[in-house]
Amino acid sequence: MDQIIVTGNGPLNGQIPIAGAKNACLTLMPATLLSEEPLTLTNAPRLSDIRTMTTLLQSLGAEVQALQDGQVLAMSSHDLTSTRADYDIVRKMRASILVLGPLLARFGHAEVSLPGGCAIGARPVDLHLKAFEAMGAELDLRDGYVHAKAPAGGLQGGIVEFPFVSVGATENALMAATLAKGTTVLKNAAREPEIVDLAQCLRKMGAQIDGEGTSEITIQGVDRLGGATHRVVTDRIELGTYMLAPAICGGEVECLGGTISLLAAFCEKLDAAGISVEETPTGLKVARKNGRVSAVDVTTEPFPGFPTDLQAQMMALLCTAEGTSVLEEKIFENRFMHAPELARMGAKIDVHGGTAKVTGVDKLRGAPVMATDLRASVSLILAGLAAEGDTIVSRVYHLDRGYEHVVRKLSGVGAKIERVKEQ
Ligand code: UD1
Repeated sequence: MDQIIVTGNGPLNGQIPIAGAKNACLTLMPATLLSEEPLTLTNAPRLSDIRTMTTLLQSLGAEVQALQDGQVLAMSSHDLTSTRADYDIVRKMRASILVLGPLLARFGHAEVSLPGGCAIGARPVDLHLKAFEAMGAELDLRDGYVHAKAPAGGLQGGIVEFPFVSVGATENALMAATLAKGTTVLKNAAREPEIVDLAQCLRKMGAQIDGEGTSEITIQGVDRLGGATHRVVTDRIELGTYMLAPAICGGEVECLGGTISLLAAFCEKLDAAGISVEETPTGLKVARKNGRVSAVDVTTEPFPGFPTDLQAQMMALLCTAEGTSVLEEKIFENRFMHAPELARMGAKIDVHGGTAKVTGVDKLRGAPVMATDLRASVSLILAGLAAEGDTIVSRVYHLDRGYEHVVRKLSGVGAKIERVKEQ
């Protein structure tokens, strides 16, 4: 297994290209199942989660070709052979549940393994299932699988009112509704840029959708969808992660492809902490204004609020801030597993339930640490960039799920970072 060794090395300067969004790509890929015609995605990120979704789609009989070094995904679901997503693949990645809506809508039935829990909380899929029920589907949970069946004439449009915001359930319901009979209204829908990106792609395929980006999305079902070519939106979480690198180490870095609209709440917090963010014609330029950053309080919320997927990285920044910051995690229970690892580097963090109190210290010190999930792992790398001495991050496979070429991107702006085989 690989490790990443980071050595604190002073300010960072230069440019970092930001990839297409993992989370957008993971919902755009299953959209191919809705149509017999090809769907081609450009600006796809090169990540292990994308390879897992590729394997899942191929297991259903879809053709998925990774072209141009993986940045183009040419897909066709013309000759699907199965509507069953097996446990062996689904257990690796929760986003696998996103094949359920498209399969059910196009074929009238599907069997998808339940994804099970994961490190950052229980994460059930009940909201996905309730949405399909509102469209007339019958669901049976047997042998660890969801067995879903549409009414005889196919899914029916309906009113789906989510009790709270779920990105995945909104995406699954949106895809299913494109082929349902009549009108579907999704109320209290998620508003994330990845949902807007999905709706735009589905519209290119012939879907009739209104209101994406607001909390009410209306879909007028159509008989069939066609093919399309679509560019995956910029990864706002990768963007925010790399914006934190100069914030933590000093220097000035331009994140290519970034815009403030993708991360407005996050940019406001950076500003309050004393970090300047400037929109340029090519991206976002980030620099630390003064010596030490100021403490800020952060509460995670659905978009347009502060993203839960940047909470761990923000905590890494606040570990060396002047004063005490309070971070409240409102989306997932148990999403502070990076806190004890950061404490190994000298950070002062008190966690009580969903709240973490971080008291800034002058300097972090390098230490061997363990990545526990995707965003936690990159927060340890960011902390390592600002620490004295070497930080050795193990279980790097978490990182490979969501960050392409992390070593290349950070060393390109002057960081001292290398990937080695575990001794
Ligand atoms: C997506 C993102 C993930 C991000 C999260 C929140 C992908 C592949 N992943 O995950 O990176 O952290 O949004 O921004 O896009 N919930 C239920 N029942 C459900 C569905 C969700 O109780 O049926 C709960 C979850 O446990 C969680 C909350 O709702 O507490 C929000 O989760 P959700 O927005 O659905 O996250 P994902 O779509 O899984």
